[in-house]
Amino acid sequence: PLFPVILAGGKGERFWPLSRYRRPKQFLSLDGSSRSLLQATADRLINVVGAWDSLFVVTSALIAEGVRQQLPQLPSQNLLIESEGRDTAAAVAWTSLEIKQRYGEDAVIGFFPADHWIDDQQAFADTLHAATSLAASTEAIVTLGIKPTFPSTGYGYIEQGAKIGSFNELPAYHVNRFTEKPNRETAESFLATGRFSWNSGMFFFRAGVVLKELYTHAPEIIEPLAQNGPDIYPQLPKKSIDYALMEKTNLAYVLPVSFGWDDLGDWNAIERLLKTEETPNVELATHVGLDTKGSLLYATDADDVIVTIGLEDVVIVRDRNVTLIVKKDRTQEIKQILKTIQSDP
Ligand code: GDD
Ligand code: MG
Repeated sequence: PLFPVILAGGKGERFWPLSRYRRPKQFLSLDGSSRSLLQATADRLINVVGAWDSLFVVTSALIAEGVRQQLPQLPSQNLLIESEGRDTAAAVAWTSLEIKQRYGEDAVIGFFPADHWIDDQQAFADTLHAATSLAASTEAIVTLGIKPTFPSTGYGYIEQGAKIGSFNELPAYHVNRFTEKPNRETAESFLATGRFSWNSGMFFFRAGVVLKELYTHAPEIIEPLAQNGPDIYPQLPKKSIDYALMEKTNLAYVLPVSFGWDDLGDWNAIERLLKTEETPNVELATHVGLDTKGSLLYATDADDVIVTIGLEDVVIVRDRNVTLIVKKDRTQEIKQILKTIQSDP
């Protein structure tokens, strides 16, 4: 059996102004469906594990109430609330301690980001069964590898090593090297070798295995947590699990996956999802355009009309009191400009 944990404490700032202080992107539906990213993630996992009892969510105090409203079936003792976000290494460490305490050190845990789009639910379920059986039978930190399509600098890269066997009919490999968010040049050199996949951000292991690895590679996080419990949170270093553990461990394995996958990281991901050959723009708004192309237009209010003339490759988002207009290739910088806006309007 698998204990899935949804990592739901991120801010999703690059989706501002749609994502706001108390309404981060995991609460939004970005593809026009009726379920939010968080709800869609929970649906996918319940489809695999069957019951809400074994599902956990770890999130920040700021949005915990929102998580409760979005996932009313989640048992309250399975909602772990961080007083403030300390990035994913702390979230993984605390949750793993909790699950070990309740279910023992052989409990298999899977971590799942809340910002993923996955197309084939059956292939996803098959992969989870394979990852669970690999993690249960081997001292392993299991990753899922995605076939890379461009030299992204926003993902981790996994270099595939020797094959170690098959699990649920899927081949598994040693990881030779894990590199989190390389620069462009390095990413290009990785792609050229043909040996690398993207890290999906989903991880599987037994509670005892990940805790042992954290004691070795990230004592500054696991020791204070194990000694003091979550009260120590504000004093923990902010580090992602990718830097704190994945780049260091020798126990990493990878299962290459076949389902369609995307990280809905910024507005360009929405364009990748919804763009068709026939339309010049992606329109999630009433848009009247003259000679406008390659653009994405979004309005929260169906009554709003966006009118454009002669624009190319821009993103326009209207949400309540804010209008954002940004060139498509600079959407990553929304994070920066948000720092200059005093309080999230
Ligand atoms: N509970 C909690 N607390 N969750 C958090 C925190 C925190 O402090 N910070 C982030 N998260 C959640 C986010 O909400 C998201 O669901 C997940 O953890 C991953 O965080 P991201 O910030 O989206 O990570 P990333 O996309 O930059 O990189 C990770 O995912 C990529 C694939 O999507 C890495 O694992 C990369 O290696 C990977 O390629
Ligand atoms: Mg992400």
